[in-house]
Amino acid sequence: MKNERDPDSKDELKIVKETLKNWEGDKNMIAMLLSIQDHLGYLPEEGMIEVARYLNISETTIYGVATFYNQFRFTPPGKNHIQVCMGTACHVKRGNIVLESWERRLEIKEGEVTEDREFSLERVNCVGCCVLAPVTVINKEVRGQMDPTKVDGILLKYQLGKEDETKRKKESESRTEEGCKESNDGKNS
Ligand code: FES
Repeated sequence: MKNERDPDSKDELKIVKETLKNWEGDKNMIAMLLSIQDHLGYLPEEGMIEVARYLNISETTIYGVATFYNQFRFTPPGKNHIQVCMGTACHVKRGNIVLESWERRLEIKEGEVTEDREFSLERVNCVGCCVLAPVTVINKEVRGQMDPTKVDGILLKYQLGKEDETKRKKESESRTEEGCKESNDGKNS
């Protein structure tokens, strides 16, 4: 397997190795892979390669097992990870309409990430809050009784939050520049 991803993969490899230290003497492959996914938000190739080395089995076997189970994700999640529950209670309460709304508004399908990597969308099984059905979980925060109008409202809130963040960043950069200029002027006078 070849690693064609960015420099972040070095940090990821470090995290994978640290995670595997907790499994010394244990040979539970699925639990190891899930643990790596919990730490990184997805299961990278490095994770599978390291588990293969650790258990002394082929990378192909690990890959075959990981792709067999649908709880594994193989691409990094977006900055905001959206999980739409499609368990029985949410399905009955028209969770599919909620999922379609997210897909339409984000212009991606479930399992995909937006081009700017701001959002990723995932369909999940029961998240344990059936009384609030239909449920969407955003960055681990549960949103209950979802409907398409709430999808619009939530996205608008994230958009405004991002604009505020960009504004704050620009203000702080310009303060730093001004500070440097004043300090240089002081030295030169
Ligand atoms: S089915 Fe959606 S929270 Fe249980």
